[in-house]
Amino acid sequence: MKVVLIDDVKTNLMILELMLKKFKGVKSISFEHPVRALEWCKNNHLDLIITDYMMPEIDGIKLSKKLREYKKEDPIPIIMITAHGEEKVKMEALNSGITDFLTKPVNKAEFQARVKNLLKLREYQLKISNRAEWLEEEVKKATIEIENREEEIIFRLSRAAEYRDDDTGHHIKRMAFYSYTIAQALNLDKKFTEMLLKAAPMHDVGKISIPDRILLKPGKLTKEEFEIIKTHTLNGYKILENSNIQLLNLSAEIALTHHEKFNGEGYPYGLKGNNIPISGRICAVADVFDALTSKRPYKEAWSVEKSLNLLKEERGKHFDPDCIDAFFNVLSKILEIKERYKG
Ligand code: C2E
Ligand code: SIN
Ligand code: FE
Repeated sequence: MKVVLIDDVKTNLMILELMLKKFKGVKSISFEHPVRALEWCKNNHLDLIITDYMMPEIDGIKLSKKLREYKKEDPIPIIMITAHGEEKVKMEALNSGITDFLTKPVNKAEFQARVKNLLKLREYQLKISNRAEWLEEEVKKATIEIENREEEIIFRLSRAAEYRDDDTGHHIKRMAFYSYTIAQALNLDKKFTEMLLKAAPMHDVGKISIPDRILLKPGKLTKEEFEIIKTHTLNGYKILENSNIQLLNLSAEIALTHHEKFNGEGYPYGLKGNNIPISGRICAVADVFDALTSKRPYKEAWSVEKSLNLLKEERGKHFDPDCIDAFFNVLSKILEIKERYKG
């Protein structure tokens, strides 16, 4: 513990120093000039100040006010020593941040009791502030941990839902990273962009309700079969809707709207243009590009060139033109992702 002694009379300082000797582990530093004391306090750690009231330049009250200004977050205890006749300043002193008083001539027992109590107070102050810092750290760690777990569980659920036609999980990985990359190219809010990355893998969880004979059918679907396929959007939404987890609300929105088309000819609602949430408009581009370039039970994988031609052709029809432009602006990144999660 570090105690700062301030008195313009040298002999007084010596007496205080002597009385402090009894305290083990306490170091003191003495100042005859309050301005210099303040200067030192500004730049150093200290645990207790014992200051005279009446001094040239700055009195004990002004000194205390200045110190409280410098160390706003740190309520260092301050003892002020007053002489007889200075009693009336005590009220003002308390208001300006003085913690306790001693009266001249300083009584040894009284001095030791005050100092002991205030050092104890200081010890608790430091403990609480360390603990608050420690707790804050722990809460941060725990929050990150929870978020990671949420994401992992969500991703594994998405994989379970996709397992029948995507047993590597690569389709949902590619589709999520494509969506993320398009959102970045559109300069969307960073938090939203990151959430999109985590929510996009769930776009097709509703497929869990589609029977194998339709989902895995090697040939073209009949009209009735396609009507059943369409229900995967609403069914996905029903699985994910009304959550307290923000991420799930976004994935519900994506599940519902990733097959809407910009020209209003999509499903389930035939929403048009900006009535389709931006998440759905982005995921539509990502989903179709991946479907085209991948092998499906009903089709071979298309070449990148042929797939890009379809995206261009459908700009403003199936797809939001801005999302298509963004996609082409970051095409090299898209192709890197395709390479990274191939198969
Ligand atoms: P998916 O295979 O992941 O395809 C997603 C979307 O990519 C399709 O949505 C469509 O917009 C686009 N897409 C995929 N393949 C082609 C294609 O060969 N040509 C064109 N022009 N676009 C293509 P869509 O059509 O709403 O289909 C939703 C899901 O329904 C498909 O997801 C797939 O699981 C299933 N599906 C669609 N058509 C057939 C089919 O003829 N046979 C079978 N077995 N399943 C189909
Ligand atoms: C898939 O078959 O992996 C995707 C189906 C869909 O986009 O609806
Ligand atoms: Fe889908």
